[in-house]
Amino acid sequence: MIIETIRIRHSTRKFLPYNLSEDEKKHIKEFMAGVSSLHSRHLEWILTDHNKGSGVIYAPCPDKSSCLVEYGFQGEQIVLELTKMNLATCWNASIKINAAPAGIVVGKEETGKLSLNDLLTGMGKRKELPALVEGPIPQDEKLLQILEACRLAPSAMNRQPWKFSVQKDGLYIWTKSDLLGNHHWLDLGIVLAHAFLAAKEFFKNVSIEKAAGEKYRLIMR
Ligand SMILES: Cc1cc2nc3c(=O)[nH]c(=O)nc-3n(C[C@H](O)[C@H](O)[C@H](O)COP(=O)(O)O)c2cc1C
Repeated sequence: MIIETIRIRHSTRKFLPYNLSEDEKKHIKEFMAGVSSLHSRHLEWILTDHNKGSGVIYAPCPDKSSCLVEYGFQGEQIVLELTKMNLATCWNASIKINAAPAGIVVGKEETGKLSLNDLLTGMGKRKELPALVEGPIPQDEKLLQILEACRLAPSAMNRQPWKFSVQKDGLYIWTKSDLLGNHHWLDLGIVLAHAFLAAKEFFKNVSIEKAAGEKYRLIMR
């Protein structure tokens, strides 16, 4: 179940010295090449031997909102796949390689060690659903699980800038603007990835469409 992977994932900021095996690299590259897209836009994901963790994953992506949402959407699917592989990750917006808006650090966690950012960002604490959902919170168990998967998504500075609204024609998801820059678009893509993957566990046909007012609609049939 993807929700289990989502629950396990957390940002790791202290890594052990560890070289990814050839099998791990091969699997990561294959997954990155086939990752689902939001706007049918293929991003060229690259795994480098950057000097953080065991490597850094990034893709060139211009600083445009549509590309940033796509970046978050594809990048978070990669993060969750790495989590399934028992690898630790951290999105990192201060890594700027080849016009990438953020890097994904990957490696093996050095457990029991906290960093300043762990403390500054609230140790992964999350807002509760009533603060995130506009209108009534659904009673339906599947929708509740999808919302829970969204609630647990990572975001820059743990701001959790998203809002949700459950309507008859789908789950609407949007983001509040970010005083710190464009990170809310990455965060929006990330939460859409959580919504998409969780919904696919319950529904045969799941798609995401752009709706009015910079909102996205998750359609489940
Ligand atoms: C787009 C994005 C950029 C981030 N940039 C950084 C960063 O530069 N440095 C850092 O330590 N953590 C960074 N993070 C990690 C967040 O602080 C973290 O996801 C958030 O605090 C929630 O904690 P969790 O991932 O452990 O659940 C970033 C996360 C996202 C989604």
